[in-house]
Amino acid sequence: MSRARLAMMASALALAAALSGCDGLGEPRSDMPPLPASTTAPVTYVRDIHSYARPETARVKHVDLDLTADFESQTLSGTATLDVTGEPGATQLILDIRNLEIRSVADEEGRPLAFALGQDDPILGRALTITVPAFETDETQKIVVTYATRPDAAALQWLTPAQTAGGTQPFLFSQGQAILTRTWVPTQDSPGIRQTYSARITVPEALKAVMSAEMLTPDGEEAGEGMRTYRFRMTNPVPPYLMAIAVGDLAFAEVGEDVGVWTEPSRLEAARNEFAELRQMVDAAEGLYGPYRWGRYDLLILPPSFPFGGMENPRLTFATPTIVAGDRSLVSLVAHELAHSWSGNLVTNATWADFWLNEGFTVYFENRIMEAVYGRERAQMLQVLGWNDLQTTLADLPPADTRLRLDLTGRDPDDGLTDIAYEKGAAFLRTIERIVGRERFDAWLTGYFERNAFRPMTTDGFLADIRANLIQGDAALEQQLMLEAWIDQPGLPSNAQAPTSPAFTAVDQAARAFYVDRGPASAIPWRRWSTQERQHFLAWRPTGAASSRDWLTAPQLADLETTLNLRNEGNAEVLFAWLQIAVAHRYQPAVPTLERFLTTQGRRKFVLPLFTSLWAEGDWGRPIATRLYAQARPGYHPVTTGSVDEVVGVPAG
Ligand code: BES
Ligand code: ZN
Repeated sequence: MSRARLAMMASALALAAALSGCDGLGEPRSDMPPLPASTTAPVTYVRDIHSYARPETARVKHVDLDLTADFESQTLSGTATLDVTGEPGATQLILDIRNLEIRSVADEEGRPLAFALGQDDPILGRALTITVPAFETDETQKIVVTYATRPDAAALQWLTPAQTAGGTQPFLFSQGQAILTRTWVPTQDSPGIRQTYSARITVPEALKAVMSAEMLTPDGEEAGEGMRTYRFRMTNPVPPYLMAIAVGDLAFAEVGEDVGVWTEPSRLEAARNEFAELRQMVDAAEGLYGPYRWGRYDLLILPPSFPFGGMENPRLTFATPTIVAGDRSLVSLVAHELAHSWSGNLVTNATWADFWLNEGFTVYFENRIMEAVYGRERAQMLQVLGWNDLQTTLADLPPADTRLRLDLTGRDPDDGLTDIAYEKGAAFLRTIERIVGRERFDAWLTGYFERNAFRPMTTDGFLADIRANLIQGDAALEQQLMLEAWIDQPGLPSNAQAPTSPAFTAVDQAARAFYVDRGPASAIPWRRWSTQERQHFLAWRPTGAASSRDWLTAPQLADLETTLNLRNEGNAEVLFAWLQIAVAHRYQPAVPTLERFLTTQGRRKFVLPLFTSLWAEGDWGRPIATRLYAQARPGYHPVTTGSVDEVVGVPAG
């Protein structure tokens, strides 16, 4: 056991003792370590253009949910009881809601409170403005909102039994980031407004509920009429985008101390084996940047329609089943979501314009975990894959969108979800690391997480912190780092350096032999290659190929497909890379493989580029796209259909 873990357990014991007077009778003690002093210092709110809330007037501190999941009507309904503090004299509380049915608003005694619904905006939803009795100094009011979600709530996907692995029970899961929590919880939905939460979730007794919180009733409690209730609590204040729920036929396997996997029973064994190194990953992360502050770290492997690779819901990362490759080759995604337990969940982007602070730091940290657990060679390969994706993104995006600090005025925060935040952000941190040295950089980063734990962070706040604690007035260093150029200029500053991978040199050679010199596919050492080498080979493009469509002949495509057995490829990343080549060449024999891929998983990162490329292939690709989308769309999550609809349109019927 690592030193950090021992220290954490000691402090957890101290917390338990401190809480013993006020903890609910008979309730399990929180298994989370105490909050650092930094959480109590006041937060200055910066304006978040993606929220109607006015936290400087009145703000939500705690959300208590009491919801019933009804799979017939596809609704969650019940109450959200909000603990609210306000400026003395304030009489208004503003919440964010979108596509929610508000039934009533009342105070703790059940006396109705007046409320008004603002204008509906397609991205932001509406303001729910509640008139409350004037706040007194230090007063906390409880506001009870009785409501129901709608069947098409954007955060929720209600799956039929046929859409699950087991095929016999329905399934529900949520996806809150960036601003979708307001479609299932009426609260102040801004990443700068942290809230603790608790919940009672009542579900059909054949199912189990899990949340991004401590589970207080592992087996649930009898609720009558064939229902059971599960109770949860999250005692660390979190931004609302991290509130998450899943309900289904779920089973759990412990993988190591305080780490485990949840998934459907038929997938449990595969998941347990795929993520057998979970404990090592958490230990490595703690060894790098300080204690893990959330108690347990579990994974929830979702049904294949989960629209993202992973989502860092605290204590319980949600992940796509496409990372269960059978050979642990895609576990860097878990390293990524785990890293968010520091970058994002502890120190949180204050607004979506600062999204790179979440994702850029996380990609950097993810790579450090991978290096610590799987070695430098693997980490370098991952860096190069990311860097190459970044080059494509830089070539494709308008220059203004290649700045780390974004201007999202009038835009959906999802517009910021590009490799700029991820890979340019990570390249920025690697540049700082290279210039100041790893030891100094790590010391600063550990301090950054500690100083800013449980607080929102702006890009200006980051600059202030790194100047105060790392640069410390060293003018030469300041100049060398080019901080402002990285943050506010398009493209890459002159101090950026491409990562290199010795292992990829051999892949580049094989790629040139096949793609340029038209050698046989049998000369590719495919079987000896790792997934990352295979990905690199398939992402390889001869110079100038980005604009010219065809860089392979039909016989070469057939040779590749047959020799590498790509029709039976099971690794989603490899398959995706191959299908992009196939579509760009209008390679008809791959269409059945494409059809299988697009109809058996709904991860937007795979689905959207393939439909976009199909669409770009005019009279060849559009009929295929239309046919496949009509087939696939009913199985996709609203996050995925929302994006693909814009490319292919909504199928008729
Ligand atoms: N937090 C993101 C997912 C996200 C970002 C959802 C913005 C909604 C809005 C998550 O950590 C993530 O980055 N997932 C990636 C995987 C990662 C390895 C790059 C994904 O889903 O592909
Ligand atoms: Zn991320």
